[in-house]
Parts: sequence; structure tokens; C-alpha cells
Amino acid sequence: MEVDKKTLQTEKTQITDCDLSEQIKAVTKESHSRAENTQLMLAYQRGQVTLPQYKLLLCSLYKIYEALEEELDRNCSHDGVAPIYFPQELARLESLKKDLEHFYGQNWREQLVVPAATLRYAQRLREIGKDHPEYLVAHAYTRYLGDLSGGQVLGRITQKSLGLKSGEGLVFFTFPAVSSPNLFKQLYRSRMNSIELTAEQREGVLQEAIRAFQFNIEVFDELQNLLSISETKELRQRHKTPSTKTPEAKSAQSLRLSPSLASSSQLLRMLLGVCVALAVGMGIYAF
Ligand code: HEM
Repeated sequence: MEVDKKTLQTEKTQITDCDLSEQIKAVTKESHSRAENTQLMLAYQRGQVTLPQYKLLLCSLYKIYEALEEELDRNCSHDGVAPIYFPQELARLESLKKDLEHFYGQNWREQLVVPAATLRYAQRLREIGKDHPEYLVAHAYTRYLGDLSGGQVLGRITQKSLGLKSGEGLVFFTFPAVSSPNLFKQLYRSRMNSIELTAEQREGVLQEAIRAFQFNIEVFDELQNLLSISETKELRQRHKTPSTKTPEAKSAQSLRLSPSLASSSQLLRMLLGVCVALAVGMGIYAF
């Protein structure tokens, strides 16, 4: 679709330091680098994303976009929302449903795993949709411009690391109605800058953007914790039922020896050493 190219030509594209798009980028710079350095995003950057990680991420993204897009739809004629309301180009909810169905099957809704941090994020989106619709731009910016920026690379990494066929379970990353992500981002920024805000509202939007990044960081951290807990449980289960281990499971288990197990085997070795020393000592004494 040519909406980005044509519309851009007719809109003000000159961006200055005091424009909202520049201020929001500046105040979230540090948060962006913290988000990039979460375990989940680092796994992405190393090209090591796993299927459980991606599936859990899709569940959370579904709850986040469900709240974000419902609130954007409900407030679409609000002065602070109308200029950045692009459901045709940006809406992610339907794509997420397709990806979830691909991985979890038809009854994906019953299988959603949603950490508390995701629920808090969705709750905040609903609160501001009700009390401060002008803050929604901060959340829309954080998610959609992120999806159109680093998100495009993440899509390719997901496909490669999980060995997925092109498009399979990756609809979330595709924006068929955006022919050029860069041009679209320019248009989006100029629309953000056209929103009229009082000084107080502007400050509120900037603070909300930092909050939006923080919510994302907390979601990623909690997803990672959930995965570590389930890995530990799986490991314990394997220890309890040795006869059912497959060779692969065994090698995965030996690779993932927990620190407590490693230290108990060291203790055994030490005890053995003491026994040998005692036996030798007693032998010498007997002579
Ligand atoms: C692996 C992790 C990530 C990488 C490698 C990454 C990379 C990038 C890059 C290269 C850009 C600049 C694109 C450009 O100038 O056109 C960008 C922009 C952006 N990213 Fe990320 N990103 C990551 C994670 C995130 C996360 C987790 C979020 C938020 C949830 C996010 C939100 C944004 C936003 C809002 C922008 C637009 C900034 C602006 O132009 O105002 N990114 N990202």
C-alpha cells in the first residue's frame, strides 16, 4: 500500500529537537538499551531463540496488543489518538491469533500462559485508555515503532533459529500494508508531532513512554524466569524417572548439571580422598 509515500509528501516532515518524536526517542534511549540487554533479547541477538521462548512471548504479546488495540479503537476519535490511529497498517492482534493457532492449535486460548507482569501492563493500558487517552501514543510508539525497527530483524532471527518455513508462525512480524517501514516511521513521527499537548500532558506522555519500556522489560524478565523454572522442574522429573530417559535427554541432562549437584559430587570425591589417606596412614602406622 502506498499510504506512507503519498501521505508523507503532503505532510510536514521537518522534525526538530522539541518535537514529541525526538523527545520521546531521547528520554527512552537508556530504556531501549536496557530492553535490548534483557536475557530474552540477548538470546535473540545471539540467534539462539528457542520454541518455548517464542511461544511464551506470543502469549504475552497477544494480551498486550489486545488491550492496546481495544483502547486505541475505543479512543480513535480522541485528539491525542486520531493522528496516530493506523489500524489497517499496524494492528497486530489478528496476526498474533494466527501465530498462536499455528503453534498451539485451535484451542490456543485455553493454553495461553500469561505472567503477572503482562497482566499489569495490560491493566495499565486499560487504565490510561479510560483516564488519559492522550498517553496511548507513548505505548503505541513503543510497540509499533519497535516492531517496525528492530522487530524486523527479530522476525528473521526467529525464522532462522526455529527453522520455520517462510511465514509459518511469523505473521506477527509482517506488515503487508506498510511498503516501506522507514517511510512509514517518518509519517508516524510527523503524526505524533501534530498532536497538540499542554506542557503537563507532554511530560505525562514522555514519562509514560519510559513506563512502557519498563513494562516490556518486566514482561521479558518474567518470561525468562518462567522458562528457567520449567527447565528446572523438567530436570528434577528426569532425575526421578531414570528408566524413561532417551539418549538425547540424558545428554541434555549431563550438560545442565545444576551447581548443587556439581558440588555434591565434589564432596563425594573429597570424602573418598580422606578415606584413602586414612587407609594409607593406618597402613604406615601398622608397620
Ligand atoms: C534485540 C533487541 C532490539 C534491537 C536489536 C533493537 C534495535 C533497534 C534499532 C536498530 C532501531 C533503530 C531503527 C531506526 O533508526 O530506524 C530501533 C528502534 C526502536 N526500537 Fe528497538 N531494538 C530492540 C528491542 C526493542 C524493544 C524490546 C523495544 C520496545 C519494546 C524497542 C523499541 C524501539 C522503538 C520504539 C524504536 C524507534 C525509535 C525511534 O526512532 O524513535 N526495541 N530498535
